[in-house]
Amino acid sequence: MTPVPPAPGAASHDRPTLAVVGATGAVGTVMLSILSQHADIWGEIRLIASPRSAGRKLLVRGVEVEVVALTEEAFEGVDVAMFDVPDDISARWAPIAAAKGAVVVDNSAAFRMDPDVPLVVPEVNPHAARVRPRGIVANPNCTTLSMIVAMGALHAEFGLRELVVSSYQAVSGAGLAGIDALRAQLNLVAGTDLGTKPGDVRRAVGDNTGPFSEPIALNVVPWAGSAQEDGWSSEELKVRAESRKILGLPDLRVSVTCVRVPVVTTHSLTVHARFENEVTVGRAHEILSTAPGVVLFDNPAAGEFPTPADVVGTDPTWVGRVRRSLDDPTALELFVCGDNLRKGAALNTAQIAELIAAELS
Ligand SMILES: NC(=O)c1ccc[n+]([C@@H]2O[C@H](COP(=O)([O-])OP(=O)(O)OC[C@H]3O[C@@H](n4cnc5c(N)ncnc54)[C@H](OP(=O)(O)O)[C@@H]3O)[C@@H](O)[C@H]2O)c1
Repeated sequence: MTPVPPAPGAASHDRPTLAVVGATGAVGTVMLSILSQHADIWGEIRLIASPRSAGRKLLVRGVEVEVVALTEEAFEGVDVAMFDVPDDISARWAPIAAAKGAVVVDNSAAFRMDPDVPLVVPEVNPHAARVRPRGIVANPNCTTLSMIVAMGALHAEFGLRELVVSSYQAVSGAGLAGIDALRAQLNLVAGTDLGTKPGDVRRAVGDNTGPFSEPIALNVVPWAGSAQEDGWSSEELKVRAESRKILGLPDLRVSVTCVRVPVVTTHSLTVHARFENEVTVGRAHEILSTAPGVVLFDNPAAGEFPTPADVVGTDPTWVGRVRRSLDDPTALELFVCGDNLRKGAALNTAQIAELIAAELS
């Protein structure tokens, strides 16, 4: 009997081969720990980074694996390739990996708004991952991801009409360089009385503010991303465009202000969400306390609300401070926290890759 050839994109062996491109970065590092914690569905796991890291050995599933440099050959036999690298590297190499037969799950911004690339959050629109004309599935931005699971659950019940969002974003959103910058600056200001005179923190920190335009220690910076038209930042426009695409609401009104704060990891957001119908806090509590991937932690009288210091390292989206707007019975005010390196990046990517692995096998 002639063997039946595998369908395009199907794993040709028992368990799919996974490549992690960018395995040495902030997201890649968390990815390796998630791969060690989740059900072991993968065959070979290949670790890829820049030539600078080739030869380094990293631990995954309790085994040391040598990092290889990013080349076309590195995708030989790969079924699913996660990309946790800068935009320009993804833009160039994701189509190469897809042409080699891998399904790419890309964490960068390179393909998120491409109409032929689905933008997927498994708790909200898992079906979208099945239609991928370019062989690429995109993972949303960490700020969008930090709130969208909760918003998706509320939308399914109340019908979302508008979001007004302010972010309080951790420095690891800017990669390892962001973490390094905060730690170095904290060392410079620790034990001083800085923060009492105009410019004193700036002088202590000096010109090297890392990936941020201003000092981040003892400060908040109302800016994330690059400058776009009419005063908006790229990060703010991403949250707007990506929320619309994930929820399938192309006309959703969205207004965002992104702010960087001296937190290592875990983004927080305040959200004013306006719905089609009247809302009650009781019903919102019921929805949020049963929604997959969401933890409701909302009893301010007892001091219970999420903060980044407690949420960091956990998987769910944490929601607290749920109130009905005093001036609009169709609107809720919420405070949301999510680990930007887990659900905001690596975890969501791993969940998408697991959906695809289940489909391929
Ligand atoms: N940090 C977050 O919260 C977050 C959230 C969502 C999405 N993302 C996105 O995820 C991606 C990775 O972010 P990150 O924060 O992990 O960045 P990062 O800490 O700077 O790590 C970047 C990774 O890309 C690799 N890389 C850089 N240039 C390369 C090249 N020429 N060839 C091959 N590999 C190369 C690096 O390898 P070397 O170590 O060898 O240089 C490293 O593994 C970015 O697109 C980012 O926007 C980040």
